[in-house]
Amino acid sequence: MNSMLSHRARAIKPSPTLMVSALAKKMKSEGYDVINFGVGEPDFNTPDYIKNAAKKALDDNFTRYTESAGIPELREVIVEKFLKDNNLKYSIDEILVSPGAKASIIHILLAICDPRDEVLIPSPYWVSYTSQVEMVDGHPILLPTNMSTNFKITAHQLEDALSSLSSPKALILNSPNNPTGTVYNKQELKEIAEVCLKHNILILSDEIYEKLTYDGEEHHSIASVSKKVQDITIVVNGVSKSYAMTGWRLGYAAGPHEIIKYASRIQSHTTSNVNSMTQKAAVVALTQNDGSIDRMRQQFEKRRNFLVAELNNIPNIKCTLPKGAFYAMPNVSFYLQNNTKDIRTSADLCSYLIQNFYVAVVPGVAFGANNYVRFSYANSMDNIEKGLQRFEEGLKSIL
Ligand SMILES: Cc1ncc(COP(=O)(O)O)c(C=O)c1O
Repeated sequence: MNSMLSHRARAIKPSPTLMVSALAKKMKSEGYDVINFGVGEPDFNTPDYIKNAAKKALDDNFTRYTESAGIPELREVIVEKFLKDNNLKYSIDEILVSPGAKASIIHILLAICDPRDEVLIPSPYWVSYTSQVEMVDGHPILLPTNMSTNFKITAHQLEDALSSLSSPKALILNSPNNPTGTVYNKQELKEIAEVCLKHNILILSDEIYEKLTYDGEEHHSIASVSKKVQDITIVVNGVSKSYAMTGWRLGYAAGPHEIIKYASRIQSHTTSNVNSMTQKAAVVALTQNDGSIDRMRQQFEKRRNFLVAELNNIPNIKCTLPKGAFYAMPNVSFYLQNNTKDIRTSADLCSYLIQNFYVAVVPGVAFGANNYVRFSYANSMDNIEKGLQRFEEGLKSIL
């Protein structure tokens, strides 16, 4: 059977985060009371004012194909959003609307990568970056980070890595970050951008968690460092996370006209347009506000504070305070090195915890960081409390 499949297909691993969620769902359907910290989506409903816009679009029979790159009305709104939130000027032909940020990213990669081009990715990384780079026959080059560097790459590290590469094409930067929650400040972005300019590489800046920052931390787009930096950057964003719209499937990209033009052309042959009702709903999501978006953010912040404090109360667990997104990444290396159950990897540990203590967390190995596990705090306080108890009991039981 394998011989019928392409090398490309065989190289792609299933998404480990979706696997954890699928196992948790399966166990739940079999009657087990599983607490799932694996999910990467808000547990809130899409706000009513956004849903109503989609209902209206249906009633108005706005149900046909649209422009592949997105309806002009929505692209105008996205242009305004970039100006208002990020001080970035674009025209509507520099905007691509896709079925999710994930689709924007693959279409951009298809537009910019030739076989064997190297794409630099800070690690831990969001699972789809490496797979998507491999799907376009590029080479993911990982830039390792850890707790001691606050999970951030430095300009110096980037410069070093670039000096040994033969065909560097782009850096994928994700701030606020999944899985670490790290948020880069203006100065750090400026230094990284300078290295990219010097080496003539593009920046793909995934800013999907832009609206989810805590402790007053401000999000900065690397594209706003200077016009020169904007000219080498493709910013990716979307409505999934900040507006609780994961199932609607709408993301967008902004960047140099030529790149957006070709990415749009590619998209016109893959997915065509995002469904028409969702585009109308996104216009409302990006222009109106009844306070629900910030209420969700505040809930996430409360949960983060509780989760991280409690994790740090567990003996031999260390967890940095994430400044954005809705994930926390405690270091579990002590338990991997000291246990009586032959648990060696974060995947062994997560599989033990879900099967014996009914608590699902994602193994760090899925993000290129074996010494860690990832908790999503897009979960109710009750579940967080109960799940943490199980996590602690599970860890105790392996010593
Ligand atoms: C960093 C990051 N980028 C992009 C996405 C995908 O977003 P979308 O739902 O818009 O495809 C995710 C979803 O988990 C993510 O964590």
